[in-house]
This record gives sequence, C-alpha cells and structure tokens, in this order.
Amino acid sequence: MKFFVDTADVDEIREINSIGLLDGVTTNPSLIMKSGRDIIEVTKEICSIVDGPVSAEVTALDYDGMMKEAATLGKIADNICIKLPLTMEGLKACKALTSDGHQTNVTLCFSANQALLAAKAGATYVSPFIGRLDDMAIDGMELIEDMRLIFDNYDFETQILAASIRTVNHVKEAALAGADVATIPPSTIKALVKHPLTDKGIEGFLADWAKTGQTI
Ligand code: E4P
Repeated sequence: MKFFVDTADVDEIREINSIGLLDGVTTNPSLIMKSGRDIIEVTKEICSIVDGPVSAEVTALDYDGMMKEAATLGKIADNICIKLPLTMEGLKACKALTSDGHQTNVTLCFSANQALLAAKAGATYVSPFIGRLDDMAIDGMELIEDMRLIFDNYDFETQILAASIRTVNHVKEAALAGADVATIPPSTIKALVKHPLTDKGIEGFLADWAKTGQTI
C-alpha cells in the first residue's frame, strides 16, 4: 500500500518524508487555506520535497475553466497530479487530461457508480472519502471493497486512493479492503507506529540492559 500525506504544511511533509515511507501528497482547497500560503508557491515547494505525485485541485466547475486551471497547475512541476471533482465536467476534463499524459485524481467519490465512471474516464487515482461517509453512518469500507471488485472485474488500472482518513483503524481497514493508496493526515501517520506494548517492551529491555553495564 502506498502512503500519501494529506496536508499542505511543508514542515509536516518534510518530517514525514524524512522517515522514507512517503509516496506522495494530496492537497485540497481547504488544506491550502489552512496553510495560509499561495497555492502555486506552496505546491511548488511540496513538489520539490517529495518525488511522488502531488495532487493539486482545480476549483472551476466547468470543463473549460478546469482545463485552464489544470494547465496552470500542470506547469508547477513534473510530479503534479491534477485533482478534479467527480462531476460530469470533472470526468470530461479527466478524460482529456489523462489522454494528454497528465496524472489525475478524481476526488469526492462517494459511490461505486461514481468510481466506475472515474475509471472509465481513465483517472490515475479515484478518491473515496471514508471519513465523510462514516460521518453519515455509512460504512466507507464497503465502498472500497465494491470498488476493488469492480476494478478487478474489468482490469481497470485506476488506483483506489482511500481519502478522508481519520483514524488508524481506517488505514488498516482500507488496506484489508484492497485500497492501493491511503492519503493520511500527518498525526495519523505518526499514530500508526504507536503501541503500548512496544513502549513497555523497550522500557523492560533498557532496564535489563543497564544492569549488564555493557555498551554497544
Ligand atoms: C484528500 O485527497 C481529501 O481531500 C481529504 O482526504 C479530505 O479529508 P477530510 O474529509 O478530512 O476533509
């Protein structure tokens, strides 16, 4: 499973990237707003930190506007992945951009039929929003399972990018359901490593080690 970090905070991206397990980054207009920075400037910096795809989202709702914004975003760096909403106009832009050799991420996916459309439009990634479905008491993992089955039935190459991840359990369940990628907030990536028995084990080993009086 590939790990993307879901933030536009360059300090957090540098920190997570330094672990060596980061495969890409996703941003959205809300995350850009949270960063307090200019979209072009911050996205350029992110692209220089991480080798993998960096999703940058269009904000236009019509095809022509999306294509115009995609042209601007696409010029930022070679590793830009154009993020488009799961609407008819977004699918049309996805088809055109993918045919033109761009990486695309079709976002705001909440149903298997939407995912099927994105795959048919040639999306590189489609992003089911797990947390937002959970907020409505709908099991987001069922959506990932359905998508996995449909994509495998027809050998679609579109990758399932589990998004709106809120908990460490979301990461585990998305991996079990066969998501290709999870985009995860920095705090949740850090929480993945935590286990009280690991801490307790280290504590016990270090206490015994101290009694030996040895150093390595
Ligand atoms: C990433 O691509 C999505 O935009 C992001 O995961 C949405 O997360 P949220 O539902 O927590 O805002």
